[in-house]
Amino acid sequence: MQLNYKDYSRENLPFTGEILKNIKEVLALKSEYEHEKYISAFEQEFASYNKSRYAIALNSGTTALELALRSCGVQRNDEVILPSYTYIATGLAVSNIGAEPVFADIKDDTLTIDPGNIKKKITKKTKAIIAVHIHGNPADMQGIVKIAGEYSLNIIEDCSHAHGAQYKGKKTGNFGIGCFSCHTDKNLGAIGNAGILTTNDKKIYERLIRMTRVQDEPDIGLSNRTPCRMDALQAAILRAKLIHLDTMIEKKRQIAQIYRSKLCDEIVLQKQEKNSKLVYRDFAVVAGSAQQLYDHLKKNLIQAKKGYLPLHLTSYYRTLLKNKLNPLPVTERIYKNILWLPLSFSLTAKEAEFICRKINSFFA
Ligand SMILES: Cc1ncc(COP(=O)(O)O)c(C=O)c1O
Repeated sequence: MQLNYKDYSRENLPFTGEILKNIKEVLALKSEYEHEKYISAFEQEFASYNKSRYAIALNSGTTALELALRSCGVQRNDEVILPSYTYIATGLAVSNIGAEPVFADIKDDTLTIDPGNIKKKITKKTKAIIAVHIHGNPADMQGIVKIAGEYSLNIIEDCSHAHGAQYKGKKTGNFGIGCFSCHTDKNLGAIGNAGILTTNDKKIYERLIRMTRVQDEPDIGLSNRTPCRMDALQAAILRAKLIHLDTMIEKKRQIAQIYRSKLCDEIVLQKQEKNSKLVYRDFAVVAGSAQQLYDHLKKNLIQAKKGYLPLHLTSYYRTLLKNKLNPLPVTERIYKNILWLPLSFSLTAKEAEFICRKINSFFA
């Protein structure tokens, strides 16, 4: 049995009928105005799902992060603290606008940014913290909100892995400006690139509208604008899938539960932050001999993934930030030992049990 990390065709299959119905609706729209209305309907549906006041549909998660930073006034040479253990886009959003990423370490059990380490990285130039809810596990928002309040810092949440996740009864994306990637490989995935941003702050929302929409008056709001709006076709796909998001999340939780109950003790599982509900974009495990385990799974036709190369170890940031970079011991240790196991809502219990057996046999 060949088990890929993900199989988009299997994931899209249950929604094909609804997606095609929505696409036909979009094809019949008559004007830019009608497209905009259609996209706005998705924004309202997502805002309502996420219990956020406002949502803005965009062409990617990276765009959402860049706009979020700019909308709260982050400028060239300002510093932004973020975890190094994340997808490169979280860092690029900062450096693309000329600000300086400052990498903080993570907690070794939850794999989310460590508030204790954030505090050590704050300087007079710090303007914002980006909390990444990595693999769908909400970061320690209580600690982050406290620090942000103490030092008057903006909070941006990278929710790209965390559509539907909750921290203390509140959905992620409501503690600061929420930035969601809706790329195909996310829990709420389009076909290609898409993203969405959430905020509960009217002023930020109005600023973002000016930064993202073509205005009727050509001289207003266009000065700093590059095309960044979500396409109506992606909105059509996402509207079809949003209705089923909680069911998909629940199915992934059931598969994750099989992993949690059946994997042997040599496998260390990602711990959930207290009072949170994680959503499993991935199932990340930490294990000794991770490379050999990866090879063993590959031999057995199971495609695992190695974790992200921490951003402070990438050649890009080693060149850009040179002697400003410091070692991050937890991140570096985790990076050497982390693997992501196949996890999709379309994975069957039998397949997950098969993967557990192959992993356990490696350690037996
Ligand atoms: C944690 C994280 N942040 C940001 C992004 C960027 O999103 P996008 O690819 O939609 O620009 C991704 C996408 O993979 C991600 O995983």
